[in-house]
Amino acid sequence: MTDSAAEVLAAHVREVPDFPKPGVMFKDLTPLFREPEAFNTVLADIADRWAGKVDVVAGVEARGFILGAPLALRMGLGFVPIRKAGKLPGDTHTRSYDLEYGQATIEVTTDAFTAGHRVLLVDDVLATGGTAAAACELIECAGAEVVALEMLLELSFLNGRDKLPGRTVHATLVD
Ligand code: PRP
Repeated sequence: MTDSAAEVLAAHVREVPDFPKPGVMFKDLTPLFREPEAFNTVLADIADRWAGKVDVVAGVEARGFILGAPLALRMGLGFVPIRKAGKLPGDTHTRSYDLEYGQATIEVTTDAFTAGHRVLLVDDVLATGGTAAAACELIECAGAEVVALEMLLELSFLNGRDKLPGRTVHATLVD
């Protein structure tokens, strides 16, 4: 029997204690990204769920890019990078938010999306939900529709979904 995407992902997460600061258990997904068969299994699961239902994939810097770009290509769609502040040229929409550890600002160019396009937002981890909520606001600010959020890993004890009321959120693996 073929392993499910969740099983494959679970087998490719490395737990690193006290990173990036004491008391934080960091979930390192680089073991997944360096194994093409495993990474493909996880991407195929996400692509199958949203085939024909979205027009574009968006991902948040930096780890969301590792997931989002190959997913978009696999689905035959374009990819929009949502970047940390100061990286994108031209006019941008901007949102600041709190992270599990620290604060951040993300941006998207005002011309990144076609009005009315259906967006699949992807990221590696849903923690406190601040990043995902800010990214959704940016997409909507730019005139597109957030159809769903796909996260590889959800840290459910941080209650990230509370910041995403009414949104469709799917995580490959819930911790
Ligand atoms: C991590 C992760 C998500 C975000 C989740 O990114 O990749 O984008 O935090 O946290 P939240 O749900 O509490 O907002 P990080 O900001 O560490 O940046 P990186 O991808 O550049 O490492």
